[in-house]
Amino acid sequence: MAGRIPEDAIRHVRERASIVEVVSDTVTLRRRGRSFVGLCPFHSEKTPSFSVSEERGFYHCFGCGEHGDVFTFVMKVESLAFPDAVRRVAQRFGLRVPEAADEPARRGEPLAAANAIAAAFFQAELASPAGVRARAYVRERGLGDDVVRRFGIGWAPATGDALARHLRAKGVAVEHALEVGLLARRERTDGGNPVYDRFRDRLMFPITDRFGRVIAFGGRILPGPAVRPDAPKYLNSPESPLFHKGQTVFGLAQAREAIRRAGRAIVVEGYMDVIALAQAGVEEVVAPLGTAFTADQLRVLRLISGDTIVACFDGDRAGWKAAARSFLVFLEAGLWGRGAFLPAGEDPDSFVRAHGRAAFEACVAKAVPLVETYLDDLTGDDRDAVGRRAEAAREVARVLKRVRNPREYDILVQKTADRVGISEAILRQEGAPEAAAPVPRLGVDAARSAEELLVELMAADAAVAERVRTENVLAEFEHPTWRRVAEAFTTAAPADRAGLVATLPRELRDRVARRLLGDVADEDRGRAVADCIAKIRFRRDRRMRTRLREELSAAEARGDEAAAHAVRRRLQSLMDAEHTDKART
Ligand code: UTP
Ligand code: MN
Repeated sequence: MAGRIPEDAIRHVRERASIVEVVSDTVTLRRRGRSFVGLCPFHSEKTPSFSVSEERGFYHCFGCGEHGDVFTFVMKVESLAFPDAVRRVAQRFGLRVPEAADEPARRGEPLAAANAIAAAFFQAELASPAGVRARAYVRERGLGDDVVRRFGIGWAPATGDALARHLRAKGVAVEHALEVGLLARRERTDGGNPVYDRFRDRLMFPITDRFGRVIAFGGRILPGPAVRPDAPKYLNSPESPLFHKGQTVFGLAQAREAIRRAGRAIVVEGYMDVIALAQAGVEEVVAPLGTAFTADQLRVLRLISGDTIVACFDGDRAGWKAAARSFLVFLEAGLWGRGAFLPAGEDPDSFVRAHGRAAFEACVAKAVPLVETYLDDLTGDDRDAVGRRAEAAREVARVLKRVRNPREYDILVQKTADRVGISEAILRQEGAPEAAAPVPRLGVDAARSAEELLVELMAADAAVAERVRTENVLAEFEHPTWRRVAEAFTTAAPADRAGLVATLPRELRDRVARRLLGDVADEDRGRAVADCIAKIRFRRDRRMRTRLREELSAAEARGDEAAAHAVRRRLQSLMDAEHTDKART
């Protein structure tokens, strides 16, 4: 959608951007030696195999092979096209990117602008004389100015077109406001305004992405005599190009630093729970958006929190059932999860307000592994009932089929066998994991060729690529694939090298990454390169010699002395050249 960005502007951004900072917006990184490691955002894993090098400006996952630079990272994580990724990175570091004059308006941006303008409007309305009832409600719920500001809480007036008029005055296109669901279209228009405010007389909670950009709103009804009994308590913005409910986590922008610090995340059900806990000083708290937590949301969270995620449930029977069900969602996200149970009928908001932070922390400290709740629920009270046991075993067997991690598999088998009273062997047999795709193997002559090694060295070091170019080695490559790749590396702009590495076969990619990360024992690189080149030339010469000898015999057999003489001279000069080559290396 966006216009081209000049090469030197791209280089400028690349040179000034910190890839470690950009990746850290999504993944918690730890320093290891000269690079950083964390959990890979591109596949599910328990031990970090995702490496980032600030010096070399790239990331590489030794688990799944993803490889790239700061721009490819942003493209993938935020689903952006290349120019938009460059702009996003530039913006992150306060750099300017020249825009082409006739560039079409970029999608997403006007939508985010409409939301930002609406959020500011709602906040101003809450503080205005008209917002007096809403302010009273905010106080009644115990919220102070700090959290109101921190969470950007506002109020949508009741008039029905206040926001519509404000957006028009601010130059927001109606279609953009409709697309993010701030306005809705009237079914009949009797000459009146064809659009109206979707949120009316509601307390407004901005829903942000993890950078704090407003992508949607949740609006809570204000209690009062005028409230229609069928009106939903909370109204959320519809899905839009900006807002994907299943992947968004409420409160993450505000909680991320606290989650990092605490090394854990607490998951609650409602917006008010998040905000009330933050106000009480428990800041590592987030919520889903009106539905139960999805595996995608847990994956987003896990990149920051690591494995420690505690979900809060109502201590009543429904809460207990919900906890049992949630275990499967955690498992799908590669997590075990813990459940904290509040006294029946309490939610975290009411609980922390009544009993205080320490009581809430104590409750979280008593959280139980969700697998226990899950198994409790499966086996029920009448543990001895034979039918019940068999059914539980079948159910776990179904779950086991989807568990890919061998350690998780074993734990689940052992616990179930224990609890349900059924033999591990039967469970393992019933719940054998579905066969994973076979790992592709290298060809039989996997011994690395000189060409492949040279490509590896070229990929890890632009100077080697330059040497291969100036020494004219390319034409002597035998394998067409290696020749093509080698050629690409000799002509690649620095900006394209990471992308080229990403196209290499998986094992070679890992080896290049190890070299780039400085994990390869010191070698005499010049010597290694010279050896490769010599081998490639020697092989070419040997092939040439064989061919010339065949030509020679043919010429002699024909009695064509002139041709034979010419071939002999070529053979001789070939041998001379070989000797000089040998003397050189
Ligand atoms: P709750 O009904 O538990 O509300 O819904 P709450 O968070 O405790 O809110 P208060 O304390 O009554 O103000 C939990 C979450 O479910 C979603 C919202 O995300 C809410 O925060 N929800 C609830 C809706 O989306 N729509 C509704 O009508 C109700
Ligand atoms: Mn509540």
